[in-house]
Amino acid sequence: MVQRDGVSRRTLLKRGAAASLAVSAPYFMPRGTLAAPGPLGANERLRAALVGCGGQGRADMHAMLEVGGAGLELVALCDVDKRQSDAAAKAYNGKFESKPDVYQDFRRVIDRKDIDVVVVGTPDHWHATVMILACAANKDVYVEKPASHNIREGRAMVEAARKYKRIVQVGMQQRSDPHFREAMEYLRAGSPLGVISRTATFNYANEMPDGIGSPPDTDPPAEVDYDMWLGAAPKRAFNPNRFHWSWRFFYDYGGGMICDWNVHIQDIIHWGMQVDAPLSVTAFGPTVAHGPLCREGEGYKRALKDNRETPDMMDVVYEYKAPDGHLFTQVYTMGKVYHRGNVQESYGTEFHGSDGSLFINRGGWEVTPEDTQVDLDNPRHRTRKVTKIPPRTLAVKKPGNDTLPPHVKNFLDCIRSRKIEDLHCGIEIGHRTASACHLGNVALRVGHKIWWDCDRETVLTQDGKPDEEANRLLAREYRQGFELPSV
Ligand SMILES: NC(=O)c1ccc[n+]([C@@H]2O[C@H](COP(=O)([O-])OP(=O)(O)OC[C@H]3O[C@@H](n4cnc5c(N)ncnc54)[C@H](O)[C@@H]3O)[C@@H](O)[C@H]2O)c1
Repeated sequence: MVQRDGVSRRTLLKRGAAASLAVSAPYFMPRGTLAAPGPLGANERLRAALVGCGGQGRADMHAMLEVGGAGLELVALCDVDKRQSDAAAKAYNGKFESKPDVYQDFRRVIDRKDIDVVVVGTPDHWHATVMILACAANKDVYVEKPASHNIREGRAMVEAARKYKRIVQVGMQQRSDPHFREAMEYLRAGSPLGVISRTATFNYANEMPDGIGSPPDTDPPAEVDYDMWLGAAPKRAFNPNRFHWSWRFFYDYGGGMICDWNVHIQDIIHWGMQVDAPLSVTAFGPTVAHGPLCREGEGYKRALKDNRETPDMMDVVYEYKAPDGHLFTQVYTMGKVYHRGNVQESYGTEFHGSDGSLFINRGGWEVTPEDTQVDLDNPRHRTRKVTKIPPRTLAVKKPGNDTLPPHVKNFLDCIRSRKIEDLHCGIEIGHRTASACHLGNVALRVGHKIWWDCDRETVLTQDGKPDEEANRLLAREYRQGFELPSV
């Protein structure tokens, strides 16, 4: 796939000219922000800040400090919940030399001219604003997945990275994982699976019957700037489920499991099949009545007894066109209300080809060859054994998130080289994969099949006209004072 956040050769040459200045800086001394980005000397120290100190932000920064070593200093932690930034400071204290300042308002971080790198670990509804402002202030950004809260914000993020010439890596860390990279190379070398006509992604976790529960509204905790947590989202009473971690199940802040988990595993489909946008999307799940045979108000009912908005089960069928022109179907399945049957793994990505299939997740990858074929000499068309490709199993069992270090290393290396084209998961890739996931939600919420014009980033009806109902869901309404910064 073409990495679309590449910069022109001319720009790179200009950056090369600035290299000699950078190299002459003293070892491990803090530097000012790069106004005109150029490659950095190997010993120049980067100064980093973490905005959003929850579970993932902390893990990202921990990996970055380990990988960055003496070349990276954590100078600022920021969270609207003081308990979170305090916990992060405690977690790093003693392990790393850094003594970060602590903030509750991320604009104070953006204002600091000595900060080079911002890690965005906020909920999705804050990604675009923090990232765009950081880019405009000449900072490089590691932004968590899904890149955006909605498709329009994702496009603005791509434009900001381009305009300000910043290095922006999206936290889809499987792109840097050695065994994912090995499997993708295997897939691309000589079409070993034959014609791939179907791919699949799935994640299961049976949460029946209570799910995340349904707690009553309360006052926000005293340590929290709740207005800043809400940001662009509508003002409403504090509910513990619409807050740390479980915000992902409410459309004001996130996009449910399809944006939370499928963004990782469908990204592998984009990567492996060398595609970046579906042609059409159809989605099935609770709250939507499908087709003329459903009476008004009828539809799938949510089974979990909790207050989430996003579906508790979902099946999405995508049509894609591969670079050689053949169409294939991608099916995403998410279930939180039923047993997963005879499926061994709780999540993963599958490629189904005419000569075999490939399964991959963070635990490893496996190729299963097709071993049967119709025998035309036999009038009953029985099958006989044929195996065109050898089975291949790579059983790497890896606990936890140890895919992070190579991904943050790639980010730090690209900051030093200023080679945007070397990023494993730049903002354009992140935006495209997030868009495919957002479109699954759009199709579910409008309750009909949608067609995607990826060049104009517009949803069409079957007869090629703009689908106004669906297109309204590509953006959000902004609370006054929290509008998206213009790029
Ligand atoms: N790459 C991965 O494998 C992976 C895994 C989990 C989560 N994530 C992503 O990481 C992000 C964070 O997820 P999480 O599970 O850690 O969520 P979380 O709710 O645990 O943490 C988010 C933190 O951001 C803070 N925050 C909210 N608004 C803020 C603002 N305006 N300024 C500063 N801080 C603010 C919150 O107070 C909270 O501490 C999400 O985008 C999520 O999708 C990625």
